[in-house]
Amino acid sequence: MKGIVLAGGLGTRLYPMTKIISKHLLPVYDKPMIFYPLATLIQAGIRDILLVTAPQETENFQKLLGNGNTFGINLQYGIQFVPNGIAGALLLCREFIGDDACTVILGDNFFDGNSLIDLMKKAFSDAENGLASVFLSHVADPCQFGVAELNEKGNILSLEEKPVYPKSDLAITGLYCYPRGVCEQIMHLSPSARGELEMTALNDLYRKQDKLKTCLMEKDSTWMDMGTPENLFRAASFIREKVLQGISVGLSEERKAKQ
Ligand code: TTP
Repeated sequence: MKGIVLAGGLGTRLYPMTKIISKHLLPVYDKPMIFYPLATLIQAGIRDILLVTAPQETENFQKLLGNGNTFGINLQYGIQFVPNGIAGALLLCREFIGDDACTVILGDNFFDGNSLIDLMKKAFSDAENGLASVFLSHVADPCQFGVAELNEKGNILSLEEKPVYPKSDLAITGLYCYPRGVCEQIMHLSPSARGELEMTALNDLYRKQDKLKTCLMEKDSTWMDMGTPENLFRAASFIREKVLQGISVGLSEERKAKQ
C-alpha cells in the first residue's frame, strides 16, 4: 500500500496567512499542519509516501521532512505546477503508484481515533481486492462538503459535492483508499464547472461500477478540515487539550533542548 499526501492548492481561505507560505506548514498547536496527516498514514502502517506540493513550496517541505528517515518512512516529493484539483494532483502520482493500491489523505485534514486505524486496515485489504473506500463522518454543516447518501445496508445511493439540500449529514472526509489503476480511472474524468478534476467525480465512477465502499468513522474518532481560520483554531485547541493530558498527537520528532 502506497501513501499519498496532497499538499498543493492555494489555501485562499487562509489568506493572508498563506500568501507567502503553504498552509500545510502553518503551526497547529505544537507542530506544522503536515505532521498530522502524515502521522495518520504512518499509524496505519504505510511507509512509502509521496508528498505533492506546489513548486515554490517543495524546498520548505524538504527542509522540514527530508527523505523521511527521521520518521521511519521513505518520503518522496511530487510537484503540482497548476492547482487543478485534488484528483488532478493524484494523477501526477501515477509513476509512484505503479501497480499498487494507494491511500490518499489531504494535507489539511486532521484525523484522530484508534478505531479509524482499524477501519483503514480493512480498507487496505478491500483495495487489494479491487474496491475503493471513502471515510465518512457525521457533520453539523454538510453543505460545505461532499455528502454521501446511504441505504439501510450502508451502500452508497448518491454522492454530491457541496449540495444546497444535503440528503444526509455524512461528509466525505479527505481520506480515500483506491485499488490499483486509480489514475486510469481519473483519466476518464472531465473538469468540473470550476475547472478542477474532482474527487467526488472519481468516487462516483467507482460507485457506478459497484466498487465503492463506505467506512463510517466511529464516535471515538475525530475529523477536522483545517483549511479555514475557525477550523485551524479548533484543531489547535483539540490538540492542545490532548497534549496537556499527556497524549501525543501527530508525528513526533526528537526535540533538542536549548543549551
Ligand atoms: P482545498 O482546501 O479544497 O483547496 P486549497 O488548499 O487550495 O484551499 P482554498 O480552498 O482555501 O483555496 O484543498 C484540500 C487539500 O487538497 C489541501 O490540503 C491541498 C490539496 N490540494 C492539492 O494538493 N491540489 C489542488 O489542486 C487542490 C485544489 C488542493
